[in-house]
Amino acid sequence: MSNNIQGKVVVITGASSGLGEATARHLAALGAKVVLGARRLERLQTIAQDIMTAGGEAAAFAVDVTRQQDLEALVQGALDAFGRVDVMINNAGLMAISPIRERRIDEWDRMIDINVKGVLYGIAAALPVFEQQNSGHFINISSVAGIKVFSPGGSVYSGTKYAVRAISDGLRHEVGGSIRTTTIEPGAVDSELKLGSGHQPSAEVVMEFYKQAIPAESVARAIAYAIEQPADVDINEIVLRPTAQDF
Ligand SMILES: NC(=O)c1ccc[n+]([C@@H]2O[C@H](COP(=O)([O-])OP(=O)(O)OC[C@H]3O[C@@H](n4cnc5c(N)ncnc54)[C@H](OP(=O)(O)O)[C@@H]3O)[C@@H](O)[C@H]2O)c1
Repeated sequence: MSNNIQGKVVVITGASSGLGEATARHLAALGAKVVLGARRLERLQTIAQDIMTAGGEAAAFAVDVTRQQDLEALVQGALDAFGRVDVMINNAGLMAISPIRERRIDEWDRMIDINVKGVLYGIAAALPVFEQQNSGHFINISSVAGIKVFSPGGSVYSGTKYAVRAISDGLRHEVGGSIRTTTIEPGAVDSELKLGSGHQPSAEVVMEFYKQAIPAESVARAIAYAIEQPADVDINEIVLRPTAQDF
């Protein structure tokens, strides 16, 4: 019997490390055809090669999610390689923690460009395909910091993750019918995300906080659960944390 993942074409941004990489490997092992996007093409090619060596199907494309045309090219690449797109996972993200008074405006710009505009560009690229197919599934990665403000230091990051939740829920409401929308809100997960803070005192707090982190495969399994549901069931939100995490 089909697991409802087998044969699906799944596009994943930020697939070169962390949650995106783990999700690509997990879904490919369950029979999905995965299309990987991120800036570090060599890493993507290594992951894609591993997947193909294990008998799976994968394609890799260099993508900077701050460039709308790169997302259009990624979705077109998926269509060229596999003929359709079933799931668009808007996962690429950056977490740069620092108090607002530090005025690290370059980091604010980068987080807004990657975490918010990057998600919107991914939605814009896949939505026409989903509408034409009359089916599709958006999975957008927010955070527990998109439910509660991570403060001090996480105000802007939280702002971007609140935005992802708001956009996802509005999208779900607007497109309804045959297109599914899931928002994932993870707590501390082991990945390269914890290395993204240039403000040293905040970076130290983050490293301490991430001692409780759980493996990226935990999120991959949650994503698989959302995808494997029958087409008339839309898992709207999944919140998951380390059992030990209070925030
Ligand atoms: N880890 C956690 O505790 C946690 C918790 C809640 C939510 N999240 C969210 O989960 C998502 C994935 O993060 P992660 O934890 O897996 O961190 P990660 O290991 O740092 O992965 C981030 C990914 O995003 C990609 N990326 C960054 N900027 C990009 C850009 N401009 N264009 C294209 N790709 C870009 C990176 O690839 P390249 O550098 O190769 O481009 C990388 O593949 C993020 O949205 C993050 O906010 C993580």
